[in-house]
Amino acid sequence: MRAHASAAPKRAVSTEPRVTVVVLAAGKGVRMNSRLPKVLHPVAGRPMLLWSMAAARALDPARTLVVVNPTQDGVQAVLNGEGQTVAQSKALGTGHALAQVAAAHRTAGPVVVLYADAPLLRGETLAALLAEHEKSRAAVTLLTADLENPRGYGRIVRARNGAVRDIIEEKDATGEQKGIREVNSGVYVFSGRELWPALAKLENKNRAGEYYLTDIVRLIKGKVHTWPVEDRNEILGINDRRQLAEAERVMRQRILDGLMTSGVTIADPATTFIDADVHIGRDTVVLPFSLISGESTIGEDCVIGPFAQIRDSIIGEACRIERAHVDQSTLAQNVHVGPFSRLRPGSVLDDGVRVGTHAEIKNSHIGAGTAIAHFSAVLDSDVGANANIGAGTVTANFDGVDKHRTEIGDRAQVGSDTILVAPVRVGEDAYTAAGSVITADVPAGSLAIERSEQKIVPGWTERRRGRRKREDST
Ligand code: UD1
Ligand code: CA
Repeated sequence: MRAHASAAPKRAVSTEPRVTVVVLAAGKGVRMNSRLPKVLHPVAGRPMLLWSMAAARALDPARTLVVVNPTQDGVQAVLNGEGQTVAQSKALGTGHALAQVAAAHRTAGPVVVLYADAPLLRGETLAALLAEHEKSRAAVTLLTADLENPRGYGRIVRARNGAVRDIIEEKDATGEQKGIREVNSGVYVFSGRELWPALAKLENKNRAGEYYLTDIVRLIKGKVHTWPVEDRNEILGINDRRQLAEAERVMRQRILDGLMTSGVTIADPATTFIDADVHIGRDTVVLPFSLISGESTIGEDCVIGPFAQIRDSIIGEACRIERAHVDQSTLAQNVHVGPFSRLRPGSVLDDGVRVGTHAEIKNSHIGAGTAIAHFSAVLDSDVGANANIGAGTVTANFDGVDKHRTEIGDRAQVGSDTILVAPVRVGEDAYTAAGSVITADVPAGSLAIERSEQKIVPGWTERRRGRRKREDST
């Protein structure tokens, strides 16, 4: 019996307690002047808060706590179950925010604190800061930066011997202190053992109605260590919309650099806007004035742009999207769209489909090799393979109350200016004559003509002009 018991795997004893991350996201964000909570404003298509969550993941934390204001709509939804939220009902400052987690999550291990309004912070930087903290055996390690323009940030005030004495906020700083360029990024690694007692002292200390987390450097027992960030952009805190635009610019460049490294040609980075959750294959070329947003995937060897706008779409290999809008659509390989066309949500284009100029497609499946080469509205339709949709074709999908579908079979030839009044079906290999209004199904292999017969009046011109002449001479 004993031998059997000892054969069971030994329970792993962790020597290094794993890290707790606390993301502070409950501020008012007054300077944004927005109805949307500040931390939900997107940067490169992702709500700011999710950038912080992504950075936190790099630490493989034991738990991530997100301090939120329960009255701010949408924050929970954006988190989508990631992390554990802790409520701070009144925004009484960053110190007060962190104090909200103290009751239930007082751990002895390292506690990393981030502010959710700093989306440019990289996960690698956070990991390096944590490593530095563990090496220095300090009570707290602050991520700092030397800024040319430190306006708006808390300044690091040091004693003569170089030790950190205080962090002074811009609005509390003397003229001399405002000259200090070394600033607090708002990223901290605390040793849990020292953090919680110091935080309790902070709670008793009220300045201008707010509890500043930064005051903790005066209260904490043990060493206050600093570690300067390498890329100063990373600490950019977003308090207003100018800073939001600046973060967007930096993030966009970062995304474009990543794509170029992975083998995508960006002809003009200054006029190319690509969101964080976009994937693009090798040797695809993105031409100027193009926007690719949301969760989009583009295959290899495509040419996108100029003036392409693609959102939440999947595009296969060797496609050409020129001056067109593609929204929530799926394109297979060798598909050509544009110039001046629009694919609305639910458009699915199979291999080799050609969509030319001024075509609009919505909620439709277009089979392989089919051409919609000129102005057309193909709405709520199922089109087979190798069909030709003539110029001016409209699938009239709406009867004023309900939407109906149109079916067009393989190899059908829809004549120019055909109106297909849905629900209606054009069979395989069928033809519709130009200018027809089709209201009944066209059987496979047949021709449907629906228009009045053409009349010829011989000598019409001669007679008309002769009459005018006679009238003039009288
Ligand atoms: C803070 C720092 C400052 C630092 C700067 C870096 C303090 C007192 N000051 O200033 O030293 O240089 O960040 O960007 O910490 N929050 C809450 N609850 C609150 C208040 C804020 O959760 O009651 C959250 C906010 O959502 C935000 C973060 O904490 O994500 C920072 O708050 P903010 O008011 O922007 O602080 P700053 O004035 O920028
Ligand atoms: Ca801030």
